[in-house]
Amino acid sequence: MSSLPFRIGFGEDAHRLEAGLPLVLGGVPIPHAELGAVAHSDGDAVLHAVADALLSGLALGDIGQYFPDTAAEWAGMDSRVIVARALELVAARGYVPGNVAVVVTLDRPKLGPLRADIARSVAGLLNLPESEVGVSFKTSEGLATAHVQTRVTALLVRTPGSGEG
Ligand code: C5P
Ligand code: MG
Repeated sequence: MSSLPFRIGFGEDAHRLEAGLPLVLGGVPIPHAELGAVAHSDGDAVLHAVADALLSGLALGDIGQYFPDTAAEWAGMDSRVIVARALELVAARGYVPGNVAVVVTLDRPKLGPLRADIARSVAGLLNLPESEVGVSFKTSEGLATAHVQTRVTALLVRTPGSGEG
């Protein structure tokens, strides 16, 4: 059990995009997306990176160990379940998220108008105020037009009375 008061986590994810599939980011369906994520689950690259950031902060491995993408039971699953599980694992070790920063690299569509929706959705899943969820968007400058890439840092804060010392 860690006795550090804070731990930092980092997560990353990417999905290939294809026409005719839905695109969900941070639990928010993206309207008018011409391309959607090719994935075993719902393909929510923001939530996959959020969950990995939580797990990595406590050296708990990555979501593939808990939700193998070969398992039929996880096919098409709602990635909010993955975040909830990661949160439970973190809480069991005496930590809660303090703040998170999310970066999404996607060429189209423009996500700026959905920034607050995505922040609110992620905040709700992590039991955080919206002000503790930073959301940034980048394009790939046309280098990866059928691709979504996400990166997330998470600060984990030890809860009083938990862990050692
Ligand atoms: O990556 P780039 O510097 O070209 O991004 C320029 C602006 O476009 C940024 O302000 C970013 O928030 C916005 N953007 C967006 N939706 C995307 C990609 C970038 O709103 N899918
Ligand atoms: Mg993923």
